[in-house]
Amino acid sequence: MPLLSPARLAISLFENHFGSRPAAVASAPGRVNLIGEHMDYNGGPVLPVALQRRTAVAVAPADRWEFLSGEEGGVIERVDPAAPMRRAWTDYLVAVVRELAAVEGSPRGARVAVGTTLTVGAGLSSSAALTVAAAKALSLLARRRLTPAELVDVAFRAEHDQVGVRCGRMDQTIAAHARPGTALLFDTATGALTWLPLRARIWIVDTGISHRLTGGELNRRRAESGEALARLRERWPALRHLAQLDPDLLDIALPLLPPPLARRTRHVVTERVRTEAAARALQRGALDEVGGLMVEGHESLRTDYESTIPEADLIVASAVRHGAWGARLTGAGWGGAVVVLAPPERQARVLAETAREFRERFGRVPEVWGSRAAGGVRRERV
Ligand code: GLA
Repeated sequence: MPLLSPARLAISLFENHFGSRPAAVASAPGRVNLIGEHMDYNGGPVLPVALQRRTAVAVAPADRWEFLSGEEGGVIERVDPAAPMRRAWTDYLVAVVRELAAVEGSPRGARVAVGTTLTVGAGLSSSAALTVAAAKALSLLARRRLTPAELVDVAFRAEHDQVGVRCGRMDQTIAAHARPGTALLFDTATGALTWLPLRARIWIVDTGISHRLTGGELNRRRAESGEALARLRERWPALRHLAQLDPDLLDIALPLLPPPLARRTRHVVTERVRTEAAARALQRGALDEVGGLMVEGHESLRTDYESTIPEADLIVASAVRHGAWGARLTGAGWGGAVVVLAPPERQARVLAETAREFRERFGRVPEVWGSRAAGGVRRERV
């Protein structure tokens, strides 16, 4: 863990490169999703938890746009938000500026410095942490108070409509609405939010395999889900979301679909059931049950959604064998990090043995760190 907080990182970056103090700073957290993967574009529930690692955005008004990130070599990028996207990290900020402008929440120009303690591309929602924090900080400059729900809308449209990642709303929602000591049950069909107690420390084991979402596998899975839904609606016209298919109908539904779509559908329907069960277990504090459901969920991602990678499969199997309650590849997949839940007295052993087995197989030591459930977007003191 870096020694400086993300806010301090962003502020010192700003001061060093722009030679003045920022006028406002906001930060937003990364997340793990405990369970409910690939639900948020299929109308199912998700159960994310905000992490203590965050991204902070320091801003001051200017007459043009200048962006700077500690993760991207600390070079000042002069950007015109009206120009075409560049397929660079700055696209995320341009996207936020455009969407803020659409709700009259953007200043005319700004200097922007980004500091983060999150690993970018590790499936921990570094992009939503950036877009939500940037939306908050820039709207402060424009003297426009956006509610958490409005911040979610701006950040979601930035990533989905502007950058073109066909994500759902899970990442922006947890970044904006998280409360310390809780996981957030978010029903993506109705928008209902329920905060469930989570006091335990959660562990993150990074596979070290980075994923780039833009135009990649996530978009493909989203298209497959849409196609499966369209085909099933020929039989059940009232079906609004794939996740709402009654599990008892799977025996009839799956033969109607070509094999890959049948597998995707089976994941989506069974994951909805698992996530609802995990939420009930979490409410009762039954973390062992949550863990068992996480392992089943990972297996479903491996065989049916085909979004896991061997590094993650090994971490899950190893953690469970050495006494974890559960573990699961979190986020979109095809790289990223595994979230591990383990009883406090077994954590040290679980993590040490998992890292050892990972090193034996892949020849390197994975990054492992712990976090409590943290809070959502906030203004930081300058
Ligand atoms: C990515 C997307 C989310 C969600 C997950 C899969 O993180 O940004 O909206 O779809 O993948 O659960």
